[in-house]
Amino acid sequence: MATTEAQRPLRIAMVGHGAAAQAFVPALQNNPQFALVAIVENNAQVQASAKALGVPVFSQLEDLKQIAHLDGVYIATPTPCHAEQCIQALANGWHVLVEKPMSSNAAEALRMVSAAQQFGKTITVGHSHSFDAPIQAMRRIIQSGELGAVQMVNTWCYTDWVYRPRRPEELDPALGGGVTFRQGAHQIDILRALCGAKVQTVKAKVFNSDPQRQTIGAHAIYLDFENGSAATAIYNGYAGLSSMDWTHQVSEWGFLQTAEQRPWRRRPLQHATAEQELAAKQERAKTAIPASAPWQPHFGLTVVSCTLGDMRQTPEGILIATADGERELKLPHHLSPRDGVLEEIAEVWRGKGPGWHDGQWGFENLRICEAAIASAHSGREWVMTP
Ligand SMILES: NC(=O)c1ccc[n+]([C@@H]2O[C@H](COP(=O)([O-])OP(=O)(O)OC[C@H]3O[C@@H](n4cnc5c(N)ncnc54)[C@H](O)[C@@H]3O)[C@@H](O)[C@H]2O)c1
Repeated sequence: MATTEAQRPLRIAMVGHGAAAQAFVPALQNNPQFALVAIVENNAQVQASAKALGVPVFSQLEDLKQIAHLDGVYIATPTPCHAEQCIQALANGWHVLVEKPMSSNAAEALRMVSAAQQFGKTITVGHSHSFDAPIQAMRRIIQSGELGAVQMVNTWCYTDWVYRPRRPEELDPALGGGVTFRQGAHQIDILRALCGAKVQTVKAKVFNSDPQRQTIGAHAIYLDFENGSAATAIYNGYAGLSSMDWTHQVSEWGFLQTAEQRPWRRRPLQHATAEQELAAKQERAKTAIPASAPWQPHFGLTVVSCTLGDMRQTPEGILIATADGERELKLPHHLSPRDGVLEEIAEVWRGKGPGWHDGQWGFENLRICEAAIASAHSGREWVMTP
């Protein structure tokens, strides 16, 4: 029987084959709706490992013009590359899935959104942690109204982000680096998904605590939403305590990781050159984001308070506490957050709808991260313009 247009696999190419991209490979290989048809990677060493996937490996985006009937690209290069590569891809007639943060700053993100309109193609931003099943389940419960109105959402994440091997630009907030852009992008995404309204004001403090490793390594952000709800995002990437201690030892990717099993470094690699950091980063990329998790992913601890009850994540789903007592809602974990991203882009690329995590959503997340840093630098509450 002939394959109809609606059933044929969507032809996707990956641009960049580092930690984020490698994490997408199992989801792509297991999803019959997609065919990975090429990889673009400009580092010779990484190209060698990309070739193991058995598809053509190119060194620049324009080379993808050699691939027939390409539907879209997944851009997983370093953040400062996103804007130009995304606009170039849109201009070539390809849809775009771009990693978070979608660009180094909101002005670039706006150019990307305009280009999508101009060329009649779409942008989706992901993976981000609002694709996690427990966050999606809490969002559905809030939207159903069964717990009344959402009042507060608080999310806490304590990790070793600052001391993981890094490219220099990953630590530079002017290039979309530091925890507020890189990890705040996930937290703001979760908070907006759950509070479900426009952010009116942002107040924040950010911290650059280690002279050996200059970056924004921690933040405390307070958001005020138009529907009367409020939210906080706390992040500390200085490898002190771990928020896994408050999430039943379950990690960001849904694996059990006791204190003894955490490969944390509590200071920068001693006297490491940029090349040594890059080599360590490439090595880490091979296992940084594993697939087939036994438990639900936890981007730290997220607690929701509504007028009629509270919710938080558990390793198997979510715990709901109301006047009637506590109950756990168990959630399937055979689909990873990246499977969720592919489900969304399959709909979007087949023209069935705009999708929730579109360019405008990513732009707004980035604008709020930027406002948090501006608030911290000015010491003032930042009013979001409409
Ligand atoms: N969603 C998530 O959970 C998640 C996790 C990690 C990283 N990220 C995001 O993914 C992006 C990449 O981060 P990473 O940690 O994978 O970085 P990385 O350094 O591991 O990978 C980037 C890859 O892109 C390649 N590259 C650089 N410039 C290129 C170009 N012009 N053309 C082709 N290839 C090029 C590099 O050689 C490298 O292999 C960042 O925006 C980051 O914020 C998201």
